[in-house]
Amino acid sequence: MKLYVIVPLCALFALTQQAPSRDTCVCHLTSSEKAFPHDKLSTLDNNVSNCNSNITPQKTLELESLLLGLERRLPQLQEDVSMLEREDDGQLYAVLSLYVVENELVEITQLIDRLNGTTLGHQRLTANTTKQLDDMKAEMQQLETYDTMQVVKRQQDNKRLLKDLDQCRNGPQPTAKPTQPQPGNCPHGEIRNITGPRVYTEGEYPGSYMYGAWGRDPKPDAGKENWYWLVMLTSSNIYANYVRRYSSLSALIVGKSTPGNVQIHSSNPTTNTVQGPNAVLYGEALYYNCYNQDLVCRFNLTTKAVTTLQLPKGTRYNSKGNFCHLEGCYPYTDLDLATDESGVWVIYTSKQDFGNLVLSKVEEGEPLTLGQTWRTSVYKQGVTNTFMACGVLYATRYVNKNVEEIFYSFDTTTGVERFDIGVFINKMTANIHSLNYSPVDQMLHAYCDSYMVSYKVLFS
Ligand SMILES: *[C@@H]1O[C@H](CO)[C@@H](O)[C@H](O)[C@H]1NC(C)=O
Ligand SMILES: *[C@@H]1O[C@H](CO)[C@@H](O)[C@H](O)[C@H]1NC(C)=O
Ligand SMILES: *[C@@H]1O[C@H](CO)[C@@H](O)[C@H](O)[C@H]1NC(C)=O
Ligand SMILES: *[C@@H]1O[C@H](CO)[C@@H](O)[C@H](O)[C@H]1NC(C)=O
Ligand SMILES: *[C@@H]1O[C@H](CO)[C@@H](O)[C@H](O)[C@H]1NC(C)=O
Repeated sequence: MKLYVIVPLCALFALTQQAPSRDTCVCHLTSSEKAFPHDKLSTLDNNVSNCNSNITPQKTLELESLLLGLERRLPQLQEDVSMLEREDDGQLYAVLSLYVVENELVEITQLIDRLNGTTLGHQRLTANTTKQLDDMKAEMQQLETYDTMQVVKRQQDNKRLLKDLDQCRNGPQPTAKPTQPQPGNCPHGEIRNITGPRVYTEGEYPGSYMYGAWGRDPKPDAGKENWYWLVMLTSSNIYANYVRRYSSLSALIVGKSTPGNVQIHSSNPTTNTVQGPNAVLYGEALYYNCYNQDLVCRFNLTTKAVTTLQLPKGTRYNSKGNFCHLEGCYPYTDLDLATDESGVWVIYTSKQDFGNLVLSKVEEGEPLTLGQTWRTSVYKQGVTNTFMACGVLYATRYVNKNVEEIFYSFDTTTGVERFDIGVFINKMTANIHSLNYSPVDQMLHAYCDSYMVSYKVLFS
């Protein structure tokens, strides 16, 4: 029996017997194993996570949005140059066109410079990372020679198993979709997914203004089809007194505002200035919640005139009916203005609706009037933002700092309310302060902690 135990031990260890003294017997055990260098493995692990944090999706996005800007810009330049050729009568008109083309060339040069800067940064990062990876690979191979106890291999197996388990848990849970009438009042159908971000930029004032809104006018004046607008809350993070305009997306990205500001009032804040981040531009007019009032204001950018629209008695305003998530509320988000294929909408809440979302169509004529109103059963404080697309109201909620969920919809055509939308938005920063849909290109424009971000909306 004893012999049986000793044999496998001898197979593992070199057992040497010392010269026996008379009545004691001493054994020396020499392990053929070298101790596994756990410290080296953990340094390596640290280096890997450093490496990972250096390479972020933001880095490639910056490049992508610059390229997108350039892609939109070049055809415009080409068009302007060919117009110049057609018009070249040696007269004043041609000189003017030449001036326009020159301006455009300056903008494109700036864009290329930014692109060059970004590309150089990436090249450096790539070179550094490649070097680090090579070093780590060599180190890893060396470690593997120690790994007769299969420490690393087991760890890898465990990680793989955990990942599989996780996928299993979060995997698709098939649910039968009930057949439903075509939602909304335009042919896009319902929102299936959000992809992107397609644009991610700090624009002209990096980090300066945490709150604001931006986008494209869905009903622009002729010649302003490619223009973008920006409203930043420049006073106390609550108030704004001008609209800043850019002649193209790339002009917005490089921060060159040729048309400049259109001022609502020289003071800020005062009567009729913008209060809160949820403004929209539609038909060359800015629709917004104005200073200290339960009103929708419309600022005509051409005439600089302000028209007002009184909301029903009991409407919450002055930061008393805000969008919220568990950690807190977004200040002065009482009224959310929105645009879609059918025009301008206002989303708010009132005392008589017990804090639930209320949706009203804004009739854009003269005078400004409140059109049909719908009451919903979703509590406004459980919502972080809303937007309209194709006559359907969508509401979002905060999931975590990386993800926002479109969880709710209300169809104004059928009156059907749904709480199971389950479309997720990848966030670049934690908070989306304003969110609006652009029916021109089916993009969602978000203003998030001083970044301008846009997403493509996919319909089914
Ligand atoms: C890019 O930037 C580098 C360094 O600033 C400069 O040497 C190079 O000429 C630039 N390239 C272009 C195409 O502008
Ligand atoms: C690359 O490495 C050098 C030297 O180690 C360092 O100075 C530089 O900041 C690194 N560049 C990037 C983009 O990480
Ligand atoms: C890990 O990073 C440290 C500090 O940056 C460096 O000294 C070490 O050589 C790196 N190790 C490997 C295996 O890359
Ligand atoms: C939505 O798009 C993301 C990528 O942007 C993708 O991972 C996801 O599977 C898509 N979801 C659906 C339901 O198509
Ligand atoms: C702005 O004012 C001009 C001139 O009165 C008018 O033609 C235009 O329709 C107005 N725009 C809006 C959106 O009211």
